[in-house]
Amino acid sequence: MATAAIIGGGVIGGGWAARFLLNGWDVQVFDPDPEAERKIGEVIDNARVSLPGLSDTALPPEGRLSFHDSMSEAVAGASWIQESVPERLELKRKVYQTLQEHCEADAILGSSTSGFKPSELQGCASRPEQIVVTHPFNPVYLMPLVELVPTEKNAPALIERAKETLKGVGMFPLHVRKEIDAHIADRFLEAVWREALWLVKDGIATTEEIDEAIRMGFGIRWAQMGLFDTYRVAGGEAGMKHFMAQFGPCLEWPWTKLMDVPEFTDELVDLIAGQSDAQSGHMSIREMERVRDNNLVSMMRALKAQNFASGAVLNQHDKKLSAEAGMVRKSADIADPSLPIVTQRRAVPVDWLDYNGHMTESRYLQAFADASDRLMEIIGCDQEYIATGGSFFTAETHIRHIDETHLGSVIEVRTRVLMAEGKKMHLWHEMYAGEKLLATAEHILIHVSLETRRPAPFSPEIAANLKMIYEAQADLPAPDGLGRYVGQPR
Ligand SMILES: NC(=O)c1ccc[n+]([C@@H]2O[C@H](COP(=O)([O-])OP(=O)(O)OC[C@H]3O[C@@H](n4cnc5c(N)ncnc54)[C@H](O)[C@@H]3O)[C@@H](O)[C@H]2O)c1
Repeated sequence: MATAAIIGGGVIGGGWAARFLLNGWDVQVFDPDPEAERKIGEVIDNARVSLPGLSDTALPPEGRLSFHDSMSEAVAGASWIQESVPERLELKRKVYQTLQEHCEADAILGSSTSGFKPSELQGCASRPEQIVVTHPFNPVYLMPLVELVPTEKNAPALIERAKETLKGVGMFPLHVRKEIDAHIADRFLEAVWREALWLVKDGIATTEEIDEAIRMGFGIRWAQMGLFDTYRVAGGEAGMKHFMAQFGPCLEWPWTKLMDVPEFTDELVDLIAGQSDAQSGHMSIREMERVRDNNLVSMMRALKAQNFASGAVLNQHDKKLSAEAGMVRKSADIADPSLPIVTQRRAVPVDWLDYNGHMTESRYLQAFADASDRLMEIIGCDQEYIATGGSFFTAETHIRHIDETHLGSVIEVRTRVLMAEGKKMHLWHEMYAGEKLLATAEHILIHVSLETRRPAPFSPEIAANLKMIYEAQADLPAPDGLGRYVGQPR
C-alpha cells in the first residue's frame, strides 16, 4: 500500500488527503491546528459522497488515515509528500528543511503553492531535486487539474514519476514547462478577478450580476473547450485567423483595466462582502460546498458521455480502476464459472437520484443494461465483433425493485446465463449493496445481424463461451422470482 504524507491539512491539504485516501493510499497527516482532524474529517465526508460517483466503476478500498504530532512521524514511509501550509515563503522553506531531515530521499515533495516558483521553494533546501510544485484546484478531490511545475534541478525520471502518481489518483497533471509566478491558471483567474473588482467598485455590476455573466455563458463554454478552441469555433469557417482579425483591435480599445488594481480600501471590501452576503448569505459554506460538488460531478459526468475534456480523463481513470479491481472482461478471466459473474461494481452517482432521494427507477435498468453489455463483452460480443456486423438486441426485460439504495452506496450486479441457444440468451441479474439484495432483472436477448436487423445465429466463439458459462452454472438453484409476471401474488 502506498503512503502519502499531508503536511498542512486546511482547505487544500484536506482535499489532497481525501483524493489519496479514496484512491486507496494510506494517508498520514501533520497539522498543528487542534481542529485539523475535525476539519479534514468534514472534507473527507464530502468527498466520500461525491468522488465515487465520478467513476463508473468502484474505487479501491479506502486507505488508512492517521494524524501525527510531528512531521518526522508523518513522513515515515511516505513516497509522496504534499505540502499545503499557508502561503508564506519563509514558512514553506522552514517546513522543507524539517521534512528533508526525516523523509525518504527518493520521496516526491509536492507543494500546493498558488504563487511561488519551484526555484524559490528549492532555494535553501538540502535536496532541491526532490521538490516540485503540484498546484491543485479546490475541491482537490474532484478537480482533475494539477499544475506540475519542475525546474532544471528535477530529473526527468522524477517528473515522470510525479505524473504517473497524479494520474494514478485520477488527476490531470499539466506540465508547466517554464516556471512563472502563479503558474498558468491563476494568472487568468487573477486577471478576471481584477476586472471583476473594478466592475463592482465602479458600480457597473454587483457580485451576483458578475456571477450570472459567467455561469450563464462563458463558464459553461470554458469547461468543455477552453479559450482558444472556443474562439476558433467563434471565428466561423475561417477559424482563428478571422477571429483575431475581427476582435484583435478591441484589445486596444478601453475594454480592460487590467494593468491597474483597485485599492483594497475598507469601503471596497465592505461593498463586495456585503453584496456577496446578500447574494448567498442564506446558505452555509458547507451547504454551498455540497451544491458545488453535486454540480461539478454532474457536469463532468456529462462530459464523460462525450469522452471530452475532463470527461476523457475520467474515462481513462475508470479503465485503470476496473483493470486493477480485477473486473472480468473476457471469458478467460473468469476465476470460477460456476458462480454468478460480477458484471458491475460502482457507486451510485448524484445524477442517478430522484425526488425521493434514492436511486431512481430508470437507473436500475441502466445498471442492468450495463451489466448485460459487460456480459456480452465477456462472451466475445465486444466492439470489434460488433463492427463485423453481429450484436445482441434486448427483446424483453422484467425488473423487480426489492430495496432502495442511496447516493455513494456501492452496488454490484451478479449475472447468470440461464439459457443460450441458437440465437437467444436468457440472463438473470441480481443487484446487491453489500449482501442486501436491491433488485433482480431478467432479460431475453436476441443475437442479430446488423445488416439485415433480423435474428442470426451466434458466432462459434460466442456459442462456446455461452455454453461454458451456462453449463458451469447449471447446478445453481433456480433464482427466486424467476419468470414472475407483473403483479403476480407472492
Ligand atoms: N485555497 C485555495 O483555493 C488554494 C488553491 C490552490 C492552492 N492553494 C495553496 O495551498 C496552500 C494552503 O492553502 P489553504 O487554502 O489550504 O490554507 P488554509 O489556511 O486553509 O490551511 C493551511 C493549514 O496549514 C496548517 N499549518 C500552519 N502551519 C503549519 C506547519 N508549520 N506545518 C503544518 N501545517 C501547518 C494550518 O493549521 C492550516 O490547517 C497555500 O500554499 C495556497 O496557496 C490554495
